[in-house]
Amino acid sequence: MQVRKEQLEIPGLLRIEQGQGNLTRIVITSPLASAEIYTHGAHVTRYEPAGQPPVLWMSQSSWFDPAKPIRGGVPICFPWFGPKQGDTTAPAHGFARLMEWEIESTSHSNGTVVVTLVLRTSEATRAKWPADFVAKYVVSVGAELSMQLSVQNTGQSPIRFEEALHTYLTVGDIHHITIEGLGGANYIDKMDGAKTKPQSDRLINFTGETDRVYLNTTSTCIVHDPDKKRRLEVSKSGSNATVVWNPWINKAKAMPDFGDEEWPGMVCVETVNVAQHAIELPAGLTHVMTAKVRSWPTK
Ligand code: BG6
Repeated sequence: MQVRKEQLEIPGLLRIEQGQGNLTRIVITSPLASAEIYTHGAHVTRYEPAGQPPVLWMSQSSWFDPAKPIRGGVPICFPWFGPKQGDTTAPAHGFARLMEWEIESTSHSNGTVVVTLVLRTSEATRAKWPADFVAKYVVSVGAELSMQLSVQNTGQSPIRFEEALHTYLTVGDIHHITIEGLGGANYIDKMDGAKTKPQSDRLINFTGETDRVYLNTTSTCIVHDPDKKRRLEVSKSGSNATVVWNPWINKAKAMPDFGDEEWPGMVCVETVNVAQHAIELPAGLTHVMTAKVRSWPTK
């Protein structure tokens, strides 16, 4: 492992260390941005463009435990989203965020640092999902944060899966932000019996617990944040749905790994393929989904 670690580290730009909970953490510090990625779940927990405050939100109450997901940053949800249909014992949001991913390679170019992590079929994955696959995750840390999840079907029959890059964003105050980019779409309202409703206002604002799957949505979302004086853009490809989530007061209190008072400071804008947008992947083919996050200071 020591040899591998030395081959993967990039002096002055990338080091590998034991992070919280003794989990392996990749720390990136470049002239363009700094970031941290845990190999547990291939989980990006920090992204800060140079001279700017953190873009990703992390709970101070998060677990850092091999058996539990990290709360905040960018969990990878795969191969299902939410509860697994017909199996109440299966972990929420799939197993990918609970597994140790291998660091396949690291590189850099013009100040952007690139890390590729991989998760392959194993006895542990087969026990939870009988499919053969290779999932590759390419994280590029530069003036923007780019995350590309590729899933290859390495088996002999078609596979079906859901996936999400569950991006937690830091905001000044959820009551003051608006999200642009989903106006005119229909959404599944998980707060109202999964009814499908139209998003008639151009901007989304928040007045209570919000848990929505916006269907047929491929466009960039912009989080306007007057308190932090910035705009966060989430752009994407290979994704046909978008989840918007804030737990509000009661749900935050009910989650042991989420501080009771933390909910006003975050919003999730998730790049996903879920529900009717689940991916059907024939044998041998690869599906690629990318999310990019960028922060723009405003006046
Ligand atoms: C969101 C879902 O993406 O994730 C919510 O839409 C869910 O329904 C939330 O509560 C958090 O999920 P978890 O499993 O990380 O607590």
